[in-house]
Amino acid sequence: MEQEAICKDVQTDIEGVKTFVFECKKKLKYMPGQFITLVLPTEDGDILRSYTLSSAPNHTSVFSITVRAVPYGTGSNWLHNNLQPGMPIFFSGAYGKFIPAEYEDNKLLLMAAGSGITPHLATLRHWRNQAKKVNAHLIFSVRSPSQIIEQQELLALVRQINGLTLTIIPEDVTGQAWHGVSGRIDPLWLNAMVRNVHERVVFVCGPAPYMRAIKEYLMSIDFDLTRYHEEAFISPMPISHQQVSTNTPTYSVNFIKSGVKATTSGNESLLELAEKAGVAVKNACRSGICGACRTLKKEGHVNMQDLGGILPDEVNQGMVLLCCSQPTSDVVLDI
Ligand SMILES: Cc1cc2nc3c(=O)[nH]c(=O)nc-3n(C[C@H](O)[C@H](O)[C@H](O)COP(=O)(O)OP(=O)(O)OC[C@H]3O[C@@H](n4cnc5c(N)ncnc54)[C@H](O)[C@@H]3O)c2cc1C
Ligand code: FES
Repeated sequence: MEQEAICKDVQTDIEGVKTFVFECKKKLKYMPGQFITLVLPTEDGDILRSYTLSSAPNHTSVFSITVRAVPYGTGSNWLHNNLQPGMPIFFSGAYGKFIPAEYEDNKLLLMAAGSGITPHLATLRHWRNQAKKVNAHLIFSVRSPSQIIEQQELLALVRQINGLTLTIIPEDVTGQAWHGVSGRIDPLWLNAMVRNVHERVVFVCGPAPYMRAIKEYLMSIDFDLTRYHEEAFISPMPISHQQVSTNTPTYSVNFIKSGVKATTSGNESLLELAEKAGVAVKNACRSGICGACRTLKKEGHVNMQDLGGILPDEVNQGMVLLCCSQPTSDVVLDI
């Protein structure tokens, strides 16, 4: 369900990156690494964008997100240019399954590039607050030393968290003082830098090509991919739907509030069916991540393959994510 938060503070971390602090009426329950989905009232109407909670869970109703302004990006630039302390904003969540803290008793390898540091920042702040002893190595790739988000705090966190190792790797250090490793991250370095890679649970967050390179390296050394987790900050491609044979039964889907009925053989998502039938559904990621298309299912059964965008309580109440659900019977939806 959407709830209102008031923007309390806006801080500029580095050029192009701002942290927005919010307060809502009741305490927000979340795990470090989870995200919320904001409703942004842009000139072209409301749009939905997901942002990781960069704050650690605490006993208050105050939380923060850290946002990079993407060139030509509608939502991130709306936030940077418009959101001021005192303004209200609506959001839903927290959502997501990218939670390194759930594996904190294991040896961990945390990897991030650019704004992909936000889930790890929340995790490290949580470990510091909880005085956790961990065995974790964080490798943070940035374009240049001036692009290190929360550099001073990261350096302090390494001193404060027992068992944390930090390696920051700027790609380009031209004209800037830098004494550590630099350049584009290379699998050979990884091998040399990280001890016992095979024993670690790996959490990677960053641009798609970066994550692909890391995953390919891990596959090349026969890493057990059940220990690999990633969070994509890009808008993912629509999910591929199961192919169905021609004798698949036809199901009826009743969008009761819209007064529209449609039929489907079940080889498309309920979101795609709604759009074809002219029923407007809020959506953003179209992949079961952000929770935007959450709808109450009043009758029937669906096959839902979400990626963490719905809470167990919501599923128990009969909610489904239309973008990643296909009907397996006649269905009645409260939309
Ligand atoms: C689970 C999750 C967590 C996330 N957490 C964070 C976070 O903590 N911090 C963060 O900064 N981001 C985060 N993101 C990313 C965020 O949700 C947005 O995708 C991001 O801010 C870009 O949104 P936007 O509306 O600004 O860009 P969009 O308008 O959606 O544009 C997307 C891309 O298209 C390009 N584009 C758009 N219009 C044009 C045009 N006219 N010409 C050329 N190119 C164009 C943009 O350059 C951009 O690369 C997260 C995403 C997910 C799914
Ligand atoms: S559109 Fe994001 S979960 Fe459906």
